[in-house]
Amino acid sequence: MRYQTAASLVLVACFSSVVVPFAAAADDEHIVLKPQGSSSTPQKMLVFIPGGKVPNQHYEATARAIQAAAAEKQINLWVVIPAVFQRLCIISCTSPKICAPLHGAAEAALTVAQGQGWARGTDSEDLWLAGHSLGGVCANTLFQAYSSPSALPYAGLIVMGSYVDETGDHDLVNFPTPVLTLNVELDGGLARPGKTSVWWRQHLELMSSKGEGYALANKPVIVLPELNHTNFCPGFDVPGDLPAEVDQATATGLIGQSVAAFLVLQMNTSSTAEKAAAAALLSEQVAWTKQLLTPYLKAQDLERMPSDTKISAEGASPFCAHAQHMVAGMSDSDDARIEVQDGFHVDSQNLEHCHPNWTSLNDGRILIRSCGHTDYYPDISNTGTITAASEIACKMLSSDRVAEQLKTVAAVTNVPCSEGNRYAVSVAEQLAAPSTLERFRSQGRGWCFLDDAHTAGNIGPLWVFKDALQLEENATCMSVTSPVLFTELDDQIYPGSHYCKFLSPARALDWMMTDSLKPGKKSQKLTEATAATAEILI
Ligand SMILES: *[C@@H]1O[C@H](CO)[C@@H](O)[C@H](O)[C@H]1NC(C)=O
Ligand SMILES: *[C@@H]1O[C@H](CO)[C@@H](O)[C@H](O)[C@H]1NC(C)=O
Ligand SMILES: *[C@@H]1O[C@H](CO)[C@@H](O)[C@H](O)[C@H]1NC(C)=O
Ligand SMILES: *[C@@H]1O[C@H](CO)[C@@H](O)[C@H](O)[C@H]1NC(C)=O
Repeated sequence: MRYQTAASLVLVACFSSVVVPFAAAADDEHIVLKPQGSSSTPQKMLVFIPGGKVPNQHYEATARAIQAAAAEKQINLWVVIPAVFQRLCIISCTSPKICAPLHGAAEAALTVAQGQGWARGTDSEDLWLAGHSLGGVCANTLFQAYSSPSALPYAGLIVMGSYVDETGDHDLVNFPTPVLTLNVELDGGLARPGKTSVWWRQHLELMSSKGEGYALANKPVIVLPELNHTNFCPGFDVPGDLPAEVDQATATGLIGQSVAAFLVLQMNTSSTAEKAAAAALLSEQVAWTKQLLTPYLKAQDLERMPSDTKISAEGASPFCAHAQHMVAGMSDSDDARIEVQDGFHVDSQNLEHCHPNWTSLNDGRILIRSCGHTDYYPDISNTGTITAASEIACKMLSSDRVAEQLKTVAAVTNVPCSEGNRYAVSVAEQLAAPSTLERFRSQGRGWCFLDDAHTAGNIGPLWVFKDALQLEENATCMSVTSPVLFTELDDQIYPGSHYCKFLSPARALDWMMTDSLKPGKKSQKLTEATAATAEILI
């Protein structure tokens, strides 16, 4: 129970720490928007849950744009935007077990709509649920709270600048109704592209298991280019957000068109031509999302490739395998005599007990087995911001050991771990989508590669458990410092070792896509940032 409460508070903190710090008086009233234009088609209703701290009137323009786009497609759509207690829906819906107050607010808003002529039909066919930001998280919880195996409370869900569960019965793959995930490229907070990649992977999974048509119509995941998180609630500037690159009218129109297209694909009253046009729009948006997020997925694959089980059942880290070649510092011809197989260890205890070794092959080559591991940022109840590894830990053989075994001398000696960090950034830049790279190059804060920090006394467990990759940002750059453990060939304990914790290329991409574009404030230690926020609020 205590855990639940703590987790919910962190959730509030994460979505609303980018929102205003004062506790706004909750004097909102339920907003009811009648359908625009006359229509003979059945009445549909959209319940729109507002984001944290945002007065509900800031969603009126977005809701009207959705209605207008729906009306063009013969969808007779009502919208209610409930007023929620303290403008923080999470207080009224902390978990699927405790969500009655938020359900009550939504029902109260629907009652107002009934007073204005809305005829309630069958909820599982006519009633749609939506939410922005924290409102999207609440909508997801509300849906689950009122679902039963025999009846669904809503026809489907639309989350904007938000997402459904990361795993389980209500992740994107298993969610029992259609879900539109509508996020934006310039989201400075939790629904940033790097985080959205979690549901993008699930969309891809559905594409391969159920086909492209099914995934597009039922579980589209869209990142709209050049919009920011604030564009969903114009007039309410979300601090910590990124600057939008389209004007608000364009953004509002695009959001309206996207949501309406998703609805069209669900309506049995829509014509074949309307459905084709809707599918074409979503398909184009999904294609753009794909080129934006494929680089991030590829970068994550460098952290760990679970399918490469040559020497560890838990896979291999392609990054560590490459880094071993780098720190060896051999000439090209000698490097060609090295084969590296990495063995990945999910648990840091297993990393502790893994030590790189080698076998001489008959043809004068050697096979090196390195040890890989990744650490991640805290993600309590899905509130982690950054999905990339916070560091890639690689246990490798030293250049001296490799040279000794190859009976040669290194071409470059003393290659520092920071070379691996430079490599991580260059990989991120090579992978990045054109829009990411151009924006980063013209507006982003870059990198400062600092000298490696030696682990005290070369004590292995200290390197494994205590010393972390340090990331610290200031107005100029993100500074990165690797912990290193290095032993000579004549040392007593594990001689000839070179251990580095490296920057992940995916972490570098997240920085390029999002935080590098913010004006750097005071110097901030990022490795502990998320944990610190949690502590302050619990
Ligand atoms: C986000 O975009 C809106 C609309 O263009 C703008 O008013 C707002 O200032 C932007 N937010 C930031 C942090 O630039
Ligand atoms: C649309 O679906 C509803 C609910 O299932 C059904 O009652 C109605 O007959 C359908 N209309 C058409 C045109 O298929
Ligand atoms: C060499 O490393 C591999 C992978 O870590 C391990 O399975 C193997 O037991 C090690 N061999 C020796 C001789 O230590
Ligand atoms: C930011 O940190 C880097 C690396 O430590 C340093 O070179 C730079 O001067 C710092 N910039 C500011 C504005 O403090």
